[in-house]
Amino acid sequence: MFDRVADAYDAGRPSYPDEMYRAVIELSGVDLDGATTVDIGAGTGILTRALRARGSHVIAVDPGAGMLTRLMSRSGSGTPAVAAVQGDGNALPLGDGVADLVTYAQSWHWLDPVVSISEARRVLRRRGAIVGCWNLNHAAQADWLAAYEARLAAEVPAYWGPAVEQWSVPPIASAFEVIEERWIPWTRLIGIEDFLLDLRSHSYMAALSPEAADALVERRRAELREEFPEGVLSVPMRVYLAVGR
Ligand SMILES: C[S@@+](CC[C@H](N)C(=O)[O-])C[C@H]1O[C@@H](n2cnc3c(N)ncnc32)[C@H](O)[C@@H]1O
Repeated sequence: MFDRVADAYDAGRPSYPDEMYRAVIELSGVDLDGATTVDIGAGTGILTRALRARGSHVIAVDPGAGMLTRLMSRSGSGTPAVAAVQGDGNALPLGDGVADLVTYAQSWHWLDPVVSISEARRVLRRRGAIVGCWNLNHAAQADWLAAYEARLAAEVPAYWGPAVEQWSVPPIASAFEVIEERWIPWTRLIGIEDFLLDLRSHSYMAALSPEAADALVERRRAELREEFPEGVLSVPMRVYLAVGR
């Protein structure tokens, strides 16, 4: 599914704010510098690269060959090296007790909620921690964004997001007895064209025919250009972070 939109994903999706990494260290008790992290559902490596830049040895796991190809081409050489493994987070191709952290950035909701966590516990060392994070548009903070999400909900059959009444963050917290949760607000300044690439990278857009996706993006482009003629958007965002030990 994501391999079809790997280019848009790589170009359009946001990275995570610095405050999130500080919160991960604080809530997990694991220093990222020198840690071994298994990044599950690593995709094109948005979280992988940031963990590596903070000194983590990252093993990136994803079933998508196209996503992993981009991850490796963008990781380059250097220290610490990134290892990419094509695999399933529900049956990790890794030994027991090899990691200090297991991370799921925008990915745990694609996995089996029980089997994935038992696999994560298996590959973790004794004081390890499991991290789930999701970067979300904070539609309630801006009328234009709420209207934009509402139009997507009306026009895209598979849309799943804040404009749907039943929508909520993935229930990773219910997988743990002890879990710390945090909401981290931030603002994304982005040009309209990059914002539209982000739109194209969502699984609900990949489910549309190419013609329908193009037509929908064209409608959003026209609306956004009319509302923001200078071409730059200030998008209220928030990260939902959950750390289980
Ligand atoms: C929304 S992307 C997240 C990519 C990246 N972690 C990020 O922060 O942008 C979700 C990723 O989960 C992967 N995925 C889907 N099912 C999976 C599974 N069973 N095991 C591991 N990864 C999976 C997809 O291939 C995709 O790359």
